[in-house]
Amino acid sequence: MSTQQALWLPGIGQDFAVGTKEIDAPGPGELLVKIISSGLNPLDWKIQENGFIQFVKSYPAVIGEEAAGNVEAVGEGVTDFKEGDRVFFQASLNMGSKFTTFQQYCIVIADSAAKIPDHTSFDQAASVQVGIIPFVVALYAQQPEGLAHLAPWLEGGNGKYAGQPILIMGGASTLGQYAIQLARLSGFSPIITTASFHNTELLSSLGATHVLDRKLSTTALKDAIAKITSIPIILAFDAISLPDTQQTAHDIVTAGGTVITVRVPQVDNKHEDKVVQQVVGSFHIPPNRELGKSFMPALTQWLADGTIKPNAIEVVPGGLNGVSSGLQRLKNNLVSGKKLVVRPWETA
Ligand SMILES: NC(=O)c1ccc[n+]([C@@H]2O[C@H](COP(=O)([O-])OP(=O)(O)OC[C@H]3O[C@@H](n4cnc5c(N)ncnc54)[C@H](OP(=O)(O)O)[C@@H]3O)[C@@H](O)[C@H]2O)c1
Repeated sequence: MSTQQALWLPGIGQDFAVGTKEIDAPGPGELLVKIISSGLNPLDWKIQENGFIQFVKSYPAVIGEEAAGNVEAVGEGVTDFKEGDRVFFQASLNMGSKFTTFQQYCIVIADSAAKIPDHTSFDQAASVQVGIIPFVVALYAQQPEGLAHLAPWLEGGNGKYAGQPILIMGGASTLGQYAIQLARLSGFSPIITTASFHNTELLSSLGATHVLDRKLSTTALKDAIAKITSIPIILAFDAISLPDTQQTAHDIVTAGGTVITVRVPQVDNKHEDKVVQQVVGSFHIPPNRELGKSFMPALTQWLADGTIKPNAIEVVPGGLNGVSSGLQRLKNNLVSGKKLVVRPWETA
């Protein structure tokens, strides 16, 4: 049996350690992918610290949620991919360590993979899926997973929501940057976001019409928004979803409006006319699978023609041994406006 290097998490609250792991064969509808670049996400340190039973059911485990690489082998029934294709994907984290990305090879559900366009690097591609999928599900999935808006890659969807404002809390986060770009494609206007000032130019280039200081109080933010638009805000996407950002978004949307959170809703005195709804950004949930299948070719095309820009990335040195330090930086809010990736084949 062939083996590879993998980053093992021995148990909740324990340190990661590089070790060996078998290389699995792809089953029907699956791909075996050689991982060239693997993205780091806040969920990874949260799993390490606290465990998340819905994602990781037993230890030792290999985690990691997204990656890019080369197809090494295809399982029975796979027709859309062949050996040698460059692909990027969101891992099926809850299906176990065969499917996760802090290792040199993993198994991928073929329907959840997309081809990487020629001019997009593995490192860039590895940073896209976990960041973009939450807004896609939140806006374009059918209810109750999403708001059932017409997606911008479908006929009649591009620009459909012209003239409707949207508030995006935390535009410089990975999720926020993709939310801004998809909101632009859907036609939302104005697109108002909160961020540190040094990210203003970046977020404007992605489509934000107004970048407001993330440190403004709720009252000051409300006043600033009132000067931008007289149309009531009926939709907010909180890409940060700390208790204070959720509360602010909740207080700003008008009666009848919706706040999408990316973490568990924690809003005090919830106004009964306002919906606060958590999105689970995954195409692996059965009701979202068709949406994922229809989105993947559009994502490849949008990256190829520059419609969607990947986040700036930083390659953390040391291969899989770099994951721990990278996650510490994410945890301590030391990463601004970019995404960290590691290259598993650079593991010493
Ligand atoms: N529900 C889901 O499916 C799902 C999926 C993926 C991630 N998540 C969660 O989504 C959250 C964001 O993940 P991510 O990968 O996008 O994070 P990230 O890229 O690491 O976020 C870092 C950015 O957050 C911004 N930020 C931090 N606090 C802020 C605040 N109070 N107001 C405005 N901006 C703030 C900072 O912006 P500045 O640099 O401008 O200060 C920084 O650039 C995490 O909690 C993650 O666990 C949920």
